[in-house]
Amino acid sequence: RKVTISVIKADIGSIAGHHKVHPDTMAAAARVLAEAKRKGVIIDFYVTHVGDDLQLIMTHRKGVDSPEIHELAWNAFKKAAEVAKELGLYAAGQDLLSDAFSGNIRGLGPGVAEMEIVERPSEPIVIFMADKTEPGAFNLPLFRAFADPFTTAGLVIDPRMHDGFRFQILDLYEGRMIELNAPEEMYDILALIGDPTRYVIKRIFRKTDGEIAAVVSSERLNLIAGRYVGKDDPVAIARVQHGFPALGEILEPFAFPHLVPGWMRGSHWGPLMPVGLRDARCTRFDGPPRVIALGFQVTKGRLIGPVDLFEDVAFDETRRLAQQIAEYMRRHGPFMPHRLHAEEMEYTTLPDVLKKLEGRWKKVEGPEAREIGKRERKESAEVQE
Ligand code: F6R
Ligand code: MG
Ligand code: MG
Repeated sequence: RKVTISVIKADIGSIAGHHKVHPDTMAAAARVLAEAKRKGVIIDFYVTHVGDDLQLIMTHRKGVDSPEIHELAWNAFKKAAEVAKELGLYAAGQDLLSDAFSGNIRGLGPGVAEMEIVERPSEPIVIFMADKTEPGAFNLPLFRAFADPFTTAGLVIDPRMHDGFRFQILDLYEGRMIELNAPEEMYDILALIGDPTRYVIKRIFRKTDGEIAAVVSSERLNLIAGRYVGKDDPVAIARVQHGFPALGEILEPFAFPHLVPGWMRGSHWGPLMPVGLRDARCTRFDGPPRVIALGFQVTKGRLIGPVDLFEDVAFDETRRLAQQIAEYMRRHGPFMPHRLHAEEMEYTTLPDVLKKLEGRWKKVEGPEAREIGKRERKESAEVQE
């Protein structure tokens, strides 16, 4: 019997700036889901948050992309947004891009990660939720957990994993998708996902039997809306143990606080800091980007848990290193590579700022023009070759 795990998230407003979800909005969303559970629409649910993102974790029998489940999530966000508006919370309703629901929540603002599975006799899963970053933030840790034998001993030791995994990768710029196999095509995979602003791991399947292992939300709001409307803070679901990475193998890559795009105004590179729920908030320079990991057992569709996996001294050193990296990056102020390349910035308002200078540029003439011209000539020569 199949069960679907749906994690749907949205920023519907937060307290004292883009900092943290207000408990009353979580309660409003939980009431909607509790009613749906009572009616049998969903089997179980858990409502949580990371930073300013409200997270709905649901289990049900309706498959992925179910209009009924998406509408339920939409209604929960609507109710939460009403409370946010009533409380005057900051950016109330920001991720609800549309006024009307039209059958599928995708493209309307909220982020979605869903997988339909046949429950194993024991089905442990981990749900990762990040704030102040974007879907590509999961590229490095998921690659390492599912393709790097220095991270995941099971790739070497466990016969069920030894054939490797298939990676489904999205090209967010061109709206296309490719599937590549690890370990055979590992270098091709890296050639793509090493650019996390453009290529995003969407799903991972076990090669031996095609079982789904992981899924990531891939919404990029600014690409959808064409302007700044909020961050595309991602979520991911991963199955663990017994033919998938062990719990400790899926968590291991997060012990390295790698640099991710996002942070302040969605426009800066910063370290991804793994934290427990208590620290799932954004303060320093609206960050640093944070990720939480909640572990559950899915048992006949019920969500047993959660356990707060990064709430552990074992990640203290990672957090300390993340703080040091945060300090180092911050000292660059508005300079790249702390600041994102203009094309990758979530705020598309920088051109407006630069427009003011338009009339003030002067053509460079004389000997100095030749100096500048050199580069131009070189480029055009290369093009002609
Ligand atoms: C980034 C984010 C925050 C805001 C920042 C500015 O995803 O949510 O860093 O971009 O707090 O907010 P505004 O533009 O509302 O002043
Ligand atoms: Mg926000
Ligand atoms: Mg956020």
